[in-house]
Amino acid sequence: MSEGIDNSEYSIDELTEADVEESEEVRYAVRLTDVSRVYSIGNRTITALQHVNLTVRLGEFVVVNGPSGSGKTTLLNVIGAIDYPTEGRVILMDVPIGDYDESFRATFRLTYTGFIFQSYNLISTLTALENVMFPMQLSDDPPAEVRERALALLERVGLAERRDHLPWQLSSGEQQRVAIARAMANDPPVILADEPTANLDESSAEIVRRLLRELNEQGKTVIVMTHDELIARTPGARRFHMSNGVLTEIE
Ligand SMILES: Nc1ncnc2c1ncn2[C@@H]1O[C@H](COP(=O)(O)OP(=O)(O)O)[C@@H](O)[C@H]1O
Ligand SMILES: [Mg+2]
Repeated sequence: MSEGIDNSEYSIDELTEADVEESEEVRYAVRLTDVSRVYSIGNRTITALQHVNLTVRLGEFVVVNGPSGSGKTTLLNVIGAIDYPTEGRVILMDVPIGDYDESFRATFRLTYTGFIFQSYNLISTLTALENVMFPMQLSDDPPAEVRERALALLERVGLAERRDHLPWQLSSGEQQRVAIARAMANDPPVILADEPTANLDESSAEIVRRLLRELNEQGKTVIVMTHDELIARTPGARRFHMSNGVLTEIE
């Protein structure tokens, strides 16, 4: 997966302090320059992203719609450094993430991004509270403090009393709320959501929309791939359309 230069000697502490959080220079959450992603399966190739250019400032709310198979998930995964482009450049929080090895990228993801998936992706053997604590494993804080923080996040999504439930003991809407609490675990500046309301009933969907809006109002950059018109109508949202891997801004 890692095609970039090995920069493993470059510690995440240096990055945290010097390049990102303390820097007043960071103004862009995301910059994609001429990004393409081609998948090869056997002797066939699929172009999932074609020459995508996208600049997202810190604090923006971005909504991308488009038909199934148009490349939305691929775009989100490339933005979040889960996947990599076959062409072009990805800069996340002013860090050219493709220049680093996978271990650096993994730490970077945990620190600077929170992912919300269509199918929640909770760990089935962990309780709601343990799922929220999971991304906090890099923290140096005492376990009791980490636990308190996770509990506060569950409270924030209205699920403190469900802390000891396993995913199968939660409704779809509750699972997605746990996933949102987990996305907030390390207080990342960028929240990435892939069709977060697609599998939810209307009242759960409305809770998820409100949580995404609140995160944005608190200054988080929120990027959502969705068909949900009510998310797209979030005041101040920048709207885009994906079609056959081509991204177009809707003015
Ligand atoms: N890991 C993969 N390997 C091969 N093809 C893929 C992979 N991921 C996505 N694709 C293909 O890329 C295209 C875009 O997929 P995707 O990004 O999932 O679209 P969307 O999220 O809009 O439905 C589709 O044709 C899909 O089949
Ligand atoms: Mg998708």
